[in-house]
Amino acid sequence: MKTRDIVVIPGDGIGPEVTSAVQRVLEAAGASINWISRQAGLTALAEGSDVMPDDTIEAIQAHGVALKGPCTTPVGKGFSSVNVQLRKKMNLYAAVRPVRSLPGVPTRYENVDMIIIRENTEGLYSGVENEVTPGVVMSMKVASETACTRIARWAFRYATRRQRNKISVLHKANIMKLTDGLFIRCAQQIHQREYPNIDYQELIIDAGCMRIVQDPSQFDILLLENLYGDVVSDLCAGLIGGLGVVPGANIGDDHAVFEAVHGSAPDIAGRNVANPLALLMSAVMMLNYIAEEQGDADAGTVAGNIRDAYDRTLADGCKTRDLGGELGTDAFADAVIERL
Ligand code: NAI
Repeated sequence: MKTRDIVVIPGDGIGPEVTSAVQRVLEAAGASINWISRQAGLTALAEGSDVMPDDTIEAIQAHGVALKGPCTTPVGKGFSSVNVQLRKKMNLYAAVRPVRSLPGVPTRYENVDMIIIRENTEGLYSGVENEVTPGVVMSMKVASETACTRIARWAFRYATRRQRNKISVLHKANIMKLTDGLFIRCAQQIHQREYPNIDYQELIIDAGCMRIVQDPSQFDILLLENLYGDVVSDLCAGLIGGLGVVPGANIGDDHAVFEAVHGSAPDIAGRNVANPLALLMSAVMMLNYIAEEQGDADAGTVAGNIRDAYDRTLADGCKTRDLGGELGTDAFADAVIERL
């Protein structure tokens, strides 16, 4: 593949461990990447910067693509979430999280294959909260026609490109008539006017969650507003082996940041036990994005080779502890490299 500058943000907690494991696999697979290293989160704060420093944002703007480890958001007043800042500042409005059953990872269901598409810039993540009067606080849920239409169109276009044929919107428009009402109205319009051939359904989110855990095989693409997407992503991760195996992408019109769904896992940080697979899968999504958006077919070939290698690694029973195995972070990466 053509050599590319890609920003890497190792992040906090288990971030640096899983990031360096993933970089080793990518190098062994022949991904030709010139890593531009930048900081965010507690690591940036310790160096005297903001949790999301300007030079990190500028590097992503300059190079277009980033691979990001998880970042800890410091608890306390005055810190807004690293991830929320990043997604808003870069207008990374579509979060994409594929959830699929993996070979060698037995779970209750064997045939899970869903893609969660989450609106990434609005909803209750608007950060507009205030104390109305002592003892009474308020948080504002924001929905705009522009953002709701944009994510719906993105989801239907994604479904078409990936030969996926059903989109399910989970919502609570029976209670939040204006905000969630707008979200489903925009999705309905895009479906009817632009993509009538794709199956479309709406489910009230509580009943929808029950149906997901009863029979995930009936779902294909899930389209959700911000908070619901966050919660349902972890719920779906639980169907296929947990947070160690769910990758993610945050995509805008001009830039994309790839990161695992999991956080910085401070409880296991620094012990070489974290599962690097979710970030490795995110890196595969990144290579596929480069193949599709930048027309580099070789990047897609490298992505396919890595995916085959980690599927074979798992099928051979080589797993980290979160999946019931015994391998550490580095040993798992070595096992994938052996199978490339
Ligand atoms: P978490 O995802 O870090 O951890 C939840 C549980 O899953 C823990 O028991 C952890 O050990 C386990 N786990 C997570 N990733 C794992 C992996 N790769 N391998 C094995 N086990 C893994 O969620 P938590 O504890 O709620 O958040 C910790 C910090 O991470 C917080 O500061 C939070 O704000 C931040 N966070 C950052 C995210 C990001 O940067 N994208 C996303 C989610 C949380």
